[in-house]
Amino acid sequence: METTVPARKKITFSGIQPTGVFTLGNYLGAVKNWGPLQDEYRCIYSIVDLHAITVRQDAKALREQALRCYALVMAAGIDPEKSILFYQSHVPAHAELSWALGCHTQFGELSRMTQFKDKSAKHADNINAGLFTYPVLMAADILLYQTDLVPVGDDQKQHVELARDIAGRFNGVYGKTFVVPEPYIAKAGARIKSLTDPTVKMSKSDPNPNSFITILDPPETILKKCKRAVTDSDMQVRYGEGKDGINNLMTIYSVITGKAFDAIEAEFEGKGYGDFKTAVGEAVAEELRPVQEKFRQLMEAPDYLKECYTRGAEQAAALAERTLAKVYKKLGFVAKG
Ligand code: TRP
Repeated sequence: METTVPARKKITFSGIQPTGVFTLGNYLGAVKNWGPLQDEYRCIYSIVDLHAITVRQDAKALREQALRCYALVMAAGIDPEKSILFYQSHVPAHAELSWALGCHTQFGELSRMTQFKDKSAKHADNINAGLFTYPVLMAADILLYQTDLVPVGDDQKQHVELARDIAGRFNGVYGKTFVVPEPYIAKAGARIKSLTDPTVKMSKSDPNPNSFITILDPPETILKKCKRAVTDSDMQVRYGEGKDGINNLMTIYSVITGKAFDAIEAEFEGKGYGDFKTAVGEAVAEELRPVQEKFRQLMEAPDYLKECYTRGAEQAAALAERTLAKVYKKLGFVAKG
């Protein structure tokens, strides 16, 4: 009887920074899309705490936030039985590979990264070397797991391109070592905008809390923020130019309900913005209710969370160490006895 070797499941890797509760934008644009990938792919997700310290953090707040972040990712649909979910700082191979890759990355390449330029403008008093080499660590995250696909928001595409360049270069010099990864950008919801300035991305670091919805906002807050969202004087629920605010609310509503823009336009034909904003707020609150409920349950089970992240780190380390050993050998390091 003939046996067929099952094809290797493709590997996805993504990282999320443990800074602040994530926004509706992060959720719809990234985390929500991770859950459905779990059956088709070997999914690896990391809470990237090493990346978080490229800007100054308060240690106590970071620790609390990192714990909450782990629970939030689980609440948003990542099942640690199906996926590997771990803290980046628990797997030393990330920092180790990062050094080796840094020696194969050019100063000029890193200088061109838009996120570096933005962040150095924003944190002009702390333009540290880690902020500069941030994309190298991110490349290490990805390449350690022989990743095929990297689900990210649109703003991280440039970093994934750099990881591809580094992988290709390394393979060229030393022979095939890394899988060259592809970015995987969720189409819908990739660009949820600020509620108070719909020309910029919704961001949890925006000083105005009315500009973003976090996934832990209570329903009343969500409704209030939607009602205050900036719109226009046209008074028609219609997707179009010069209607950034309405376009943004329509995008949110469409991603959550699965309704197309023309169906939404028909639904609110002859109704005012008030009705539409209420409907958007209610849809968002309803979408987030089960996530919030699961989050509360997990936060009451710290031992279980610890069990999950301990096992996650063991699984990740086993895979990461294989790649690192291969890299060290190719670079000419003497093998450990
Ligand atoms: N830089 C990413 C962000 O800010 C987070 C991240 C770190 C990441 N390492 C990664 C994303 C590896 C994808 C793959 O969103």
